[in-house]
Amino acid sequence: MCGIVGYTGQLQAAPVLLNGLKHLEYRGYDSAGIAVLNDGAIEMTKTSGKVDALIEKVQEIGGMPGISGIGHTRWATHGVPNEVNAHPHLSQDGRFAIVHNGIIENFAVLRKELEDKGVVFRSETDTEVIVQLLGIYYEGDIKKALLRTVSRLEGSYALGVLSSDEPGTLYAARVASPLIIGIGAGENFFASDITALISHTKNVIDMDDGEIAEITPDRITVFDHAGREIKKEERYVSWDVASAEKNGYDHFMLKEIMEQPASLKAAIEPRIRAGAIVFDELDLDMKKYDRVMITACGSAYHAAVVGKYLIQKLCRIPVDAEVASELRYEDAVIDERTLAIVISQSGETADTIAAMKKCKDAGASVLAIVNVVGSTIAKLADSVIYTWAGPEIAVATTKGYTTQVAVLSMFAVWAAHETGRMDEALFKKMTADIRLIPKLAQRALDLNARVKKLAEKYHDQPSLFFIGRNLDYAVCLEGSLKLKEISYIHSEAYAAGELKHGTIALIEPGRLVVALCCYEELFDKTVSNIQQVKARGADVLAVAPEGNRRIFAEANASLPVPRTDPNLVPVIEIIPLQLFAYYVAKRNGCDIDKPKNLAKSVTVE
Ligand code: G6P
Repeated sequence: MCGIVGYTGQLQAAPVLLNGLKHLEYRGYDSAGIAVLNDGAIEMTKTSGKVDALIEKVQEIGGMPGISGIGHTRWATHGVPNEVNAHPHLSQDGRFAIVHNGIIENFAVLRKELEDKGVVFRSETDTEVIVQLLGIYYEGDIKKALLRTVSRLEGSYALGVLSSDEPGTLYAARVASPLIIGIGAGENFFASDITALISHTKNVIDMDDGEIAEITPDRITVFDHAGREIKKEERYVSWDVASAEKNGYDHFMLKEIMEQPASLKAAIEPRIRAGAIVFDELDLDMKKYDRVMITACGSAYHAAVVGKYLIQKLCRIPVDAEVASELRYEDAVIDERTLAIVISQSGETADTIAAMKKCKDAGASVLAIVNVVGSTIAKLADSVIYTWAGPEIAVATTKGYTTQVAVLSMFAVWAAHETGRMDEALFKKMTADIRLIPKLAQRALDLNARVKKLAEKYHDQPSLFFIGRNLDYAVCLEGSLKLKEISYIHSEAYAAGELKHGTIALIEPGRLVVALCCYEELFDKTVSNIQQVKARGADVLAVAPEGNRRIFAEANASLPVPRTDPNLVPVIEIIPLQLFAYYVAKRNGCDIDKPKNLAKSVTVE
């Protein structure tokens, strides 16, 4: 997790680094720091807390002059988030400063080895061993010392190095953590991700595992682990600057919720031609598989649960949805007749990568559904469907999730047709319904004012439940997570029929139960469950298709969502729940875009 950025060029480095760190804060925000080379000496400013605190500190000291430097925003793994443990870290002789994203698994052994050699450590971090090794190995050739240093490291890293011995030159290295080099004119950059650089350049080089880069204002040279120069392709990033800014919204989360009609259109439209779903990017023989395993973490896992219900129902093939951190250590039955579908917004989630590798090793074909182009998961998969959601900055995902679900829905319909399980007429009808999703999402957003009022009414609930069956249940998982991760209100998602087997004991007068009733095949069953909780004094907020009078008569409050094919409800149904979480958190004064203890991209186990 953590975000790193580096700059070398003609501009003052500190403002470029601080601005870059602001855009990387979604990766971690418990402490931050920058190091700049000024008159041949490394100068550092670090602080606990968010990047704004660092910006203030740099202003207080009157700025940090210098035209090359490195920066870091942290999500603590080793050592509390205080100023000492914040990056950059310095070598004992002060010659090198380093920023690091990842985890050095053998740091304890290396630390002991270095301490035995007389190195005195300042911090509790795993990162400091890297810079101390570099200091010890350095004999006048930084590249050589860096290659030797990284050969000792076990674990994951994206590193940036600044040295007082080579003004204007930065070094960067990566294994299993995201790292790109940004190409400018008379200036160059490195960063964990393009959002840090997009106001400067859209031309990037993707670093691969085992590579190191030497970066000066005019030249970027990449080497393999043996120090041989390698030729790298440049990539142009199509994301625009505005998409990484708030554009007048109070929070990125609200902006991203509101962007959903556009992001869904970007995910759906290019894949519909002549009334049929087309995946140009896929070369899959669906008849080859007798089983599908979908794996992911967090909200992407909730999208996986939607995928499980849909693919199973439409393709008549067994489908499992497994949390990646479990699948990676499970004895799951996976072989060459398994299609593994891996879902990830960032494409960098450590557990998801591990689960994916496990599926691959067992012989499965791996299809990745990913947002970030060129990410690790996209690179390792046999085939990729990009969700085209654009940059997502708020830690709580919204458009990332809905585009995943939209792509999964399209895939389920496409696969059912491919395998002969869906006739032409239904295929065309469902394709037409899918095409309408962006418009319906816009109509779901029209519930904004109504949701805001409900949030006002229910913002002080101590704990609540989301109940539903089948696809509604899958959406409950995500609706509940949205609320708890940004408002810190305890909430649970329950399969509506399961509530009575124990948990109903927690229902008491005034407790809010959000009942999802859009999957109309099981509507009557969910209504029975609503009556059960109402009989125990609960307040029910129903989310149901427009015009469903019966449910609106049963519930204390309601959110009528636009009607669509019952198999396509999740994308539409989650939108008012995202807004509900947003307004409850806002009413309660929470830090919506950066909820406590979380990070958007979880690159540690
Ligand atoms: C973190 C984020 C979640 C996200 C999950 C998986 O926990 O806070 O919003 O769903 O990681 O991330 P991915 O990038 O793999 O979709």
